[in-house]
Amino acid sequence: MKTYYWLILCIMTAACSKEKPASNILKSDFGVLADGSKADLYTLTNAAGMEVKITNYGGTITSWTAPDRNGKYENITLGYETVEDYVAGSPYFGAIIGRYGNRIAGGKFTLADSTWQLPLNDGPNSLHGGEKGFDKVLWEATPVDGEEPQLKLTYLSKDGEQGYPGNLNVTVTYTLQKDNALKIDYEATTDKETVVNLTNHAYFNLAGRKAGPITDHVLTLHADRYLPVSETLIPTGERRAVAGTVFDFTKAKRIGEGIGASDEQIRFGKGYDHCWVFTDSGTTLKPVARVSDPKSGREMEVLTTEPAIQFYSGNFMTGEYKGKGGLSYPYRTGFCLETQHYPDSPNQPSFPSTSLKPGEIYKTTTVYRFL
Ligand code: BGC
Repeated sequence: MKTYYWLILCIMTAACSKEKPASNILKSDFGVLADGSKADLYTLTNAAGMEVKITNYGGTITSWTAPDRNGKYENITLGYETVEDYVAGSPYFGAIIGRYGNRIAGGKFTLADSTWQLPLNDGPNSLHGGEKGFDKVLWEATPVDGEEPQLKLTYLSKDGEQGYPGNLNVTVTYTLQKDNALKIDYEATTDKETVVNLTNHAYFNLAGRKAGPITDHVLTLHADRYLPVSETLIPTGERRAVAGTVFDFTKAKRIGEGIGASDEQIRFGKGYDHCWVFTDSGTTLKPVARVSDPKSGREMEVLTTEPAIQFYSGNFMTGEYKGKGGLSYPYRTGFCLETQHYPDSPNQPSFPSTSLKPGEIYKTTTVYRFL
């Protein structure tokens, strides 16, 4: 009998001590929306020590840690602690932007002989998908554990939603890679011709999310042309050379150096809020930008298959809204590097096309890698 008990004890101890592999993606609650639906938060980690938190509300990156020159990890994206804060006061912090990133003039475009009218939510124009874009909807989330954990998000944008034609099936996959990079893969299909331009609207401050103005960051953009805009920030159609202007970031330059210049384009954007276009407008993954913070030594590289990047220097940030933890983000305390197609492409035939037809697959990739 004694031997029997001893045997059972041995088996139980062995079963309990058998280590369960640690998960690299964990789910937790993120709050409740007005209609009672619940938002979740997923925490992705890698062996190097990077941690990225993403909620299925807007597919939003709420926090992202990166190492400084001494290996100290700190949160380098602007965001909040609860979904209620995002609903109440977020200028697209960390969110997926769609169906169409940036502006469409007059919120109007013509496709296959039909004219479509979108809600005007930015003066006379439509911005970032309209009043309720992809940043304000709940996505279906599937976590995939592994050495490089993934969060796969899907959303069906119905025919007519925010004025756009066609049922659009969208998948956005975030992958936290071993080498401290976050890869974002975007995919979409439609059942009626439509326009698509997806991006992520993370606001970075490599000195830390509460570190103050980003003007001392040093930026390089591998682009020798940018798109000048009208007063309401619609591209004029010209692809203007950056050489000899404050828009020249072909060599590493402090963001603050030209941000206050007496330049008409700077005046229209209230700083930098423009689209830089690449010579290679093909679909290969290429390095397009690099940004560093001299104080902390953090440096990030951006790679994309997209033909352009919107560099926005946080000129419309007010810091007015204070989140639950007292988190507020004043003027220019974050910048965005939004990889995308050109703004207003549906109305500008000389720009690379953003139309998607049934049977085609929209596919783009962007990587933000810390060096
Ligand atoms: C736009 C800005 C806009 C901001 C919203 C950027 O992508 O270019 O004009 O104010 O998003 O937060």
